[in-house]
Amino acid sequence: MKSVMQYKIPYGKQTIDDADLNAVVETLKSDFLTQGPKVVEFEKQIAEYCGAKYAVACSSGTAALHMSYRVLNLKLEEKKVLTTSLSFSATTNAMLYCNLTPEFVDIDPQNYCISIEAIEEKLKSDHENYIGISLVHFAGLPVDMKRIKEIADKYNLWVVEDACHALGAELSYDNKISKIGSSEFSSCSTFSFHPVKHITTGEGGVITTNDDALYEKLMLLRSHGIKKNSEEKDELWKQDLIELGFNYRMPDINAALGISQLNKLDGFILKRNEIAKLYDQELTGLPLVLPKSNGSKHKHAYHLYVILTEKRKDLYHFLREKGIFTQVHYVPIHQMTLYKETLGQNLNLKNTDYYYERCLSLPIYPKLSREEQSYVISNVRRFFQD
Ligand SMILES: Cc1ncc(COP(=O)(O)O)c(C=O)c1O
Repeated sequence: MKSVMQYKIPYGKQTIDDADLNAVVETLKSDFLTQGPKVVEFEKQIAEYCGAKYAVACSSGTAALHMSYRVLNLKLEEKKVLTTSLSFSATTNAMLYCNLTPEFVDIDPQNYCISIEAIEEKLKSDHENYIGISLVHFAGLPVDMKRIKEIADKYNLWVVEDACHALGAELSYDNKISKIGSSEFSSCSTFSFHPVKHITTGEGGVITTNDDALYEKLMLLRSHGIKKNSEEKDELWKQDLIELGFNYRMPDINAALGISQLNKLDGFILKRNEIAKLYDQELTGLPLVLPKSNGSKHKHAYHLYVILTEKRKDLYHFLREKGIFTQVHYVPIHQMTLYKETLGQNLNLKNTDYYYERCLSLPIYPKLSREEQSYVISNVRRFFQD
């Protein structure tokens, strides 16, 4: 065992090996630094991995959300989107960029994802002003997408899956597996490749979809909204601006890293599940709530391992002093000043608020060694037993 001073354990971090380094160096020596053949290859592999027809790589998970909402509200109509407040603010900031207003729905205390019952309740009383549902597979545990799709179809709503926590997670219906990102039950899914996520490209994101028209528009929006001339062979320089787009391209350097990381994704998910299992075993019996995901028939991707405790603040500081840097995911979006001021909603999100007062994310990432995890476990135990 190391001494306390030698431990510095974050809640999450990237796993980079020599193959990743070589992939990046190779690309740096190539003709393409910004978007090029590596991006095309990465997109093909992500689409295949998830089981979707298309993947559009971009500069971040936020850009992926922004483009998704933009394409799904091309006319920039003032509409409402049912969503969760328990997410990183990008989930709903990207709506505001597109004239969309998030309508927060409480979480389900069983899985911390958006409550499907609460969605149904809202839509029963008023569905005219809603255009879509945007959900988060929180911590990596899939939302019941079949039910979501039934509701969305009934009320003619689109669905965006913010799947930034859930690359590698799987839905299972009647023994049929559907990967998160297959977008089988939604218009599109978005992922982030920030270093704490399942695989990283430094910064980066991707959208997966099966919709031809949506794909065409996303490709356009990613690069300014410009369509290059491919027909008039004698005027190849010609281009036209079709939509007001963005520069949300992913550089080939990042895509090369993504391709190399993707080879290891299944191993990373396995490791995350092993770490979660050990926490489940070793922390049972303490006065805290463990993730209630064991009963789920769907496969968890364990981006986060969240416990709930009445002594969250004290535990956070106790562990910090020991070199263990836990995190709170998240301060709910509806409690943020910007949202309080702009939406002015008088929200009753009691399950979300209850969760927020108690949640703490313990370290979970593929490189977390058994020794480091034992150190975390023994300190959590010590905190409650002293
Ligand atoms: C649920 C969720 N949505 C969106 C994002 C935004 O992704 P990015 O940081 O790549 O822009 C994140 C990343 O932190 C996230 O966790």
